[in-house]
Parts: sequence; structure tokens; C-alpha cells
Amino acid sequence: MTDIAFHLNGTPVRVSGASPTRTLLDWLREERGLTGTKEGCNEGDCGACTVMVTDETGPRALNACILFLPQLQGKAIRTVEGIAGPEGQPHPVQQAMVAEHGSQCGFCTPGFVVSMAVAHAQGRTDHDDVLAGNLCRCTGYAPIIRAAKAAEGAPVPDWF
Ligand code: FES
Ligand code: FES
Repeated sequence: MTDIAFHLNGTPVRVSGASPTRTLLDWLREERGLTGTKEGCNEGDCGACTVMVTDETGPRALNACILFLPQLQGKAIRTVEGIAGPEGQPHPVQQAMVAEHGSQCGFCTPGFVVSMAVAHAQGRTDHDDVLAGNLCRCTGYAPIIRAAKAAEGAPVPDWF
């Protein structure tokens, strides 16, 4: 058991007595009710559980199903619930996903949106590589890639 402190969607969080093998995915969904982060494979293959993790090296898109709570010490986590602005303003990648009809059943969509938002903040345009770790069982890749391209060059929102 261990105590861990990190930021979650901009708010400081302290977790006491956490099992060192508790995954971020389980904790988000079961303790925080943040069910936008989806459980697909639960072994790091599908990207449905993608969250943004920021440390001194900058932001990264990581799979919450293979991140253990002690690994989060001192870091900042942003889930899909934290991608839109404080007044609910959609992020440019969310606007683009809507405009390009990038969601079908929607199960993979939160993971794609987080990966796209991280890449957008980094100014990356290698969308095939960025999204290689996100799988869509509805196989709707073309509109998702169109959405990623459409969001290129949009200013990074001031809340992000
Ligand atoms: Fe985490 Fe599939 S549920 S990668
Ligand atoms: Fe259904 Fe991607 S929209 S899995």
C-alpha cells in the first residue's frame, strides 16, 4: 500500500493506501466515475483507455490499463472528460471529429480523441503513426484521419 499525489483534469488528487498493482483505468472508472476512459483489451493493445500523461518531458498519450497508480506520482493526467474547456467548449479535435463523422459505435472514440489532442498540442501531423495504437472495431479510420488533418493548425486552446 502506498500514497500517491498527482493532478487529474487540473485538480490535485491524493490517493492513500492504493495497491501498487491498481491500474489507472480501474481507478478512474471505479473510484472516480470517469467512464469515458474505456476498457477494451485491458492489455495495452487497443488504445480504448488512452489518457494524456504529462511530466517534465511533456505530454504523452498512454494506455491507462497498463499504468499502475504509483507510476503517476507527481504527474498530470487528463482523461477524455478533461479535453473540452471548462465551459464545455469542444477542443478543435472534437469539433473535427463531429464535422468529419469520425465516430460510429463510439467505443474507441475517447481514446482516439485523447491521442489526437496530444498530437495536436505537439504539432504532429504524422497521423497514421500517432493513431497506430488506437484500434476501431467499426473500421472507421478514414473519417478519423480526415478529422485529425482538419484540426491541423487550429490554435491549441488556452485551457489545454
Ligand atoms: Fe488499454 Fe486496450 S484497454 S489498450
Ligand atoms: Fe466503433 Fe470505433 S467507432 S469501435
